[in-house]
Amino acid sequence: MSRLELQSVSKSFGALEIIPALDLVIEHGEFCALVGPSGCGKSTLLRIIAGLEPATSGRVLVDGEDVTGAEPPERGVAMVFQSYALYPHMSVSANIGFGLKIARKAADEIRSKVDEAAQKLHLDALLKRMPRELSGGQRQRVAIGRAITRDPRIFLLDEPLSNLDAALRGGMRVEIARLRQSLDATMIYVTHDQVEAMTLADRIVVMNKGRIEQIGAPMDLYHKPVNRFVAGFIGSPSMNFFDADLSGRAGGNVRLRLADGTEIVAAEGPAPLPEARVTLGIRPEHIEFGEGLAGDNRVSGTVQVVERLGCDTLLHIDLSGSPMVMRQPRDLPGIRAGERVTCRFPAESCHVFAG
Ligand SMILES: Nc1ncnc2c1ncn2[C@@H]1O[C@H](COP(=O)(O)OP(=O)(O)OP(=O)(O)O)[C@@H](O)[C@H]1O
Ligand SMILES: [Mg+2]
Repeated sequence: MSRLELQSVSKSFGALEIIPALDLVIEHGEFCALVGPSGCGKSTLLRIIAGLEPATSGRVLVDGEDVTGAEPPERGVAMVFQSYALYPHMSVSANIGFGLKIARKAADEIRSKVDEAAQKLHLDALLKRMPRELSGGQRQRVAIGRAITRDPRIFLLDEPLSNLDAALRGGMRVEIARLRQSLDATMIYVTHDQVEAMTLADRIVVMNKGRIEQIGAPMDLYHKPVNRFVAGFIGSPSMNFFDADLSGRAGGNVRLRLADGTEIVAAEGPAPLPEARVTLGIRPEHIEFGEGLAGDNRVSGTVQVVERLGCDTLLHIDLSGSPMVMRQPRDLPGIRAGERVTCRFPAESCHVFAG
């Protein structure tokens, strides 16, 4: 277990700046999910931490020790690559023990560490197989096993489950949560999967174009996104956004006017707002719908598409030209495309963003 600190770490490839100076502290034993759009610099950042890529400037500290110039094996960092990178001519057992063999550990020690990792990852019965005889999920677990036998202080996982089907992913997610409890490592986990980030992480780091937009506990990011980017990135389906004019303020609320003239009262957040144009955001699951809707903040639109997911129903609604998705935790058997519906935005569920 270790504390990781990045101090003004930046990265450019030639003249192209990928990561402007970035500061980040990850505490002992913390599970940190790193999320952000494709190309925002997540893998590059992991490679800098692992020592596989030099930073252009800045320092990487592990437990206060400057490892910026240290070779990868000296850092106590293990990385699991998205592509598994198993040795095809070696058995599962040899793959898992490879790092230990290179480090010239005794055969007994290698065997016991391989057995221990295999047990944690439910690979005991597969140790003699070759990688080509394994399923994707099994290969992925071998790659994780190879990393954990090295007793890393810091464990970096770059989209480790991205090539698996939904069922395997769900299973592996639980395995990683279990592994996390049995390993004494600080973890950084890159993922494109909302559920993985929300359920596994102590904190989520949201990156955009090499910058950190927000760091926080999953529920803080969900309930209190600091800007429109984070609001749209966390949550699925994504938050709905509407252009609005800020027309007044009263008692902790702001009054907004949507493009079609509808007036909406929203609780004012902590962020300062400009005087005129703002964006109103509301999550699909926070929109009220049903019999006897009363009060302010009601909006009407036409249902375009109904998606019944079993547990939930998604209504895609055209709100005077603005698309909106509403999620309801029931079947809504009577609702069809083309129908006019009225729903309500509770003031306390409305987010208002600058710009
Ligand atoms: N060796 C390189 N030379 C030049 N540009 C590079 C190099 N490696 C990465 N890049 C660029 O740096 C940016 C960040 O890449 P990176 O792989 O870190 O993104 P990512 O956030 O991991 O994306 P993804 O989610 O698609 O894996 C991209 O625009 C990429 O094209
Ligand atoms: Mg990547």
